[in-house]
Amino acid sequence: MYTEICERAGIRYPIFAFSHCRDVVAAVSLAGGLGVLGTTRYSPEQLDRELSWLDRKLEGRPYGVDLIFGGESAPEPEALDQSARLPEGHRRFVASLIDRLQIPRSGGHAIEQFGVGRNLVMTARHAQELCEVTLRHPVRLLASALGPAPGEIVEQAHARGMLIAGLVGRVEHVRRHLFGGSDLLVATGTEAGGHCGEIGVMALVPQVVAAAGPIPVLAAGGIATGSQIAASLALGAQGVWTGSIWLTTTESDLDPLIKQKLLAARSLDTIRSRAMTGKPSRQLLNAWIEAWHQPGAPDPLPAPWQGMLNEGALVGAYEQGMTSVMGTPVGQGVGMMNTEDSVRDVFYRLLEGYGVAAERCQAVYSASINQA
Ligand SMILES: Cc1cc2nc3c(=O)[nH]c(=O)nc-3n(C[C@H](O)[C@H](O)[C@H](O)COP(=O)(O)O)c2cc1C
Repeated sequence: MYTEICERAGIRYPIFAFSHCRDVVAAVSLAGGLGVLGTTRYSPEQLDRELSWLDRKLEGRPYGVDLIFGGESAPEPEALDQSARLPEGHRRFVASLIDRLQIPRSGGHAIEQFGVGRNLVMTARHAQELCEVTLRHPVRLLASALGPAPGEIVEQAHARGMLIAGLVGRVEHVRRHLFGGSDLLVATGTEAGGHCGEIGVMALVPQVVAAAGPIPVLAAGGIATGSQIAASLALGAQGVWTGSIWLTTTESDLDPLIKQKLLAARSLDTIRSRAMTGKPSRQLLNAWIEAWHQPGAPDPLPAPWQGMLNEGALVGAYEQGMTSVMGTPVGQGVGMMNTEDSVRDVFYRLLEGYGVAAERCQAVYSASINQA
C-alpha cells in the first residue's frame, strides 16, 4: 500500500494514527505509520516535554502534531473570564444534573492529571502557544482541525519542511484548506470519533478526492480493519487517518474504566452531539450526554461556552471514577474494538487485513476478466 503520501511523509505505510498518548504515537511511527499527537489536553510546558520525549524515542523517524485553531470563533482568554455570563437557565440545568447524577465537587487535579476540562475549552491564544512549541521540534506533519491553520503558521511550518494536513467534513471545506496551504486533506466521515460532519466516509471520500485534484487525501472515520483501508484506497484516498482504534491498545493511557466501556461498546453506543464542546462531536454515550438530549433540556451553547458549562462537573466525575458519566470521543468503529492489544499487533492486523482484502478484490477482478 505504498502511495505518494508515503514518499512525502517519509513513512512505509499510509496509516496515520491520531492519539493524545505519546506511547501510541511513538509505537505507530516505529511500526512504519505516522503517529500524530493530539494536543488539546496539554499546557505548552507539558507539550514541550511530550515532544522532546518523542524526539528522543523516534530518533528522526517522522511523527505529527494536531492543533485545534478553532477558526475565527475561538475567543481570547479574557472573554473566558466572562463565564459568569453563562445563561442562568443553562447553569440551573447543569446544577440539577449534578444533583441528580450525584457528581461530587471537583478538587481540580484531574485537569493536570488527565487534561479533562482543558480539552473542552480551546482558545486561539492557547492554540498559538502550543503551535510555538510545536514549531521548535522536528515535526513532520502539522494537522489543523476545525478550520485551516492561520497563514503565518502555515508559512513557518512550510519553511521548516513540515506538511500541513487539514481535516474536512464536507466537500465545501476543501477550497478553504487548499487556499490555506494544506498539503494533505483528511476526509473525515460522520462515523469518526471527535468533531465530525454529517456525511458518511463512503460518500465523502470520492467527492473530496475529486475536489482536491493533485492534493493527496486520507480517509477517516470508523476505520478499524485492513479491509476498510483497501476500500479507502479504492475510493481514491492515498491512505487512512485513524483515531479510535488506538484508544483500547495496551499502550493507551486512557482511563482503564473507560477502556473497559469501549471494549464492551457497540457501534450504536456512540452519538454525534453538541453536548460536550458545543460543536458536533461523536462520543461514547453516557448519562451526561443523554441528559442533554432529553425533551426539555436546553439547546447546548456554542463553543467554548458549552465546554465551560460542563467543565467542573466532568472533572469531578473523573476524579471520582464515575463510569456512568465518564466518556470519550470515539467513532462507530468501536463495535470492532473488542480486545486490548498492543499497538504493534493492531498495526500488523491492519496490514494483514489489507492484504486479504486486496487479494479478494484482485480475485474478483480476475474472475470477471476471465468470464468476459
Ligand atoms: C479520543 C479522540 C479525541 C480526538 N481529538 C481530536 C483533536 O483534538 N483534534 C483533531 O483534529 N481530531 C481529534 N479527533 C479526531 C481524529 O483526528 C480522527 O479524525 C478520528 O479519530 C477518525 O475517526 P475514528 O476515530 O473513527 O478512527 C479525536 C478522536 C478521538 C477518538
